[in-house]
Amino acid sequence: MDSITISAPDDWHLHFRDGDLLSETVAATARCFKRAIVMPNLQPPVTDAALAMAYRERILQASPTPDFGPLMTLYLTQQTTTQIIDEVDLAYIPAAKLYPAGATTNSQQGVASIEHLYPVFERMSERGMLLLIHGEVTDADVDIFDREKKFIDDYLVPLKQRFPALKTVFEHITTTDAVKFVNGSDASVAATITPQHLLLNRNDLLVGGIRPHNYCLPVLKRNSHQTSLREAVRSGSNKFFLGTDSAPHLQHLKENDCGCAGCYSAWGALELYTQVFDDLDSLDKLEGFASHYGADFYGLPRNTQKITLERSNWVMPELIELPNGDKIVPFFAGQELSWKLNNS
Ligand code: DOR
Ligand code: ZN
Repeated sequence: MDSITISAPDDWHLHFRDGDLLSETVAATARCFKRAIVMPNLQPPVTDAALAMAYRERILQASPTPDFGPLMTLYLTQQTTTQIIDEVDLAYIPAAKLYPAGATTNSQQGVASIEHLYPVFERMSERGMLLLIHGEVTDADVDIFDREKKFIDDYLVPLKQRFPALKTVFEHITTTDAVKFVNGSDASVAATITPQHLLLNRNDLLVGGIRPHNYCLPVLKRNSHQTSLREAVRSGSNKFFLGTDSAPHLQHLKENDCGCAGCYSAWGALELYTQVFDDLDSLDKLEGFASHYGADFYGLPRNTQKITLERSNWVMPELIELPNGDKIVPFFAGQELSWKLNNS
């Protein structure tokens, strides 16, 4: 197959940042995605409906097309109340994001005690607001490669027992354990998977030198986990859908003695997912993953427009230069991709 036409896709997890960066990040995503779930980990974080709606407005202002629909998320903190949940218009803010405090970029104000938020989860469940989870424990004595599994055992299992109806997305899963948990859960649980976790494993981070542009959180795992993620998408299960976790950081903050976590994949994510499905001989499963299952899980209509990808080689630029001179190294920089979006 040399071309594939699918319903227009959505990105169910990404980071746009704010300010000057929006003209870059929103345009890069709107080139192929119709909607995106926008993460709230700004500084300061997006902790209530008013902040989320104002942020949404800035994103719309930056969008090169009126066709793009940002979907906002609330950042949960120890101070989040049921009243804050009640003030949300779910048509614009369908979800709230749980960052365990200290788990990742800008998560310092995140949740230190998950049990403390149980009244908030109760209200979200009643209202049909989704809970999106960064599923890693933060205990210093837990090995970074085991943090996702420990989070499942210690927090996710009890949470789902307590709130069976709460729609929960286990974001950017990285392990066999997470795939098993999601597959073993009922229809209230789904997961997003990033291009980097499908394409890479920890050798791509650490062999032959440290590769800061492949550093993200949760960190890349061993190849058996990568194989499980690839098997999950190849299975065609509607419990797994597209969420790029595209997360820009300036070049000098990644190439640093304490480099930031995040891969800026928006320039090629859809093409890279296509490559993965092609490698797995499963291009027929791409549309469900990229364009159907996320919308279905969120209870939103599927997109009616179509897009076409063609088998065609191109090279990801080494560098993206922003109007103010700042630079970002995109994910897959300088490497060849074998599928290209046809936007003619
Ligand atoms: O790699 C990551 N980058 N993981 C996250 O959870 C956050 C993100 C960011 O905001 O840069
Ligand atoms: Zn993220």
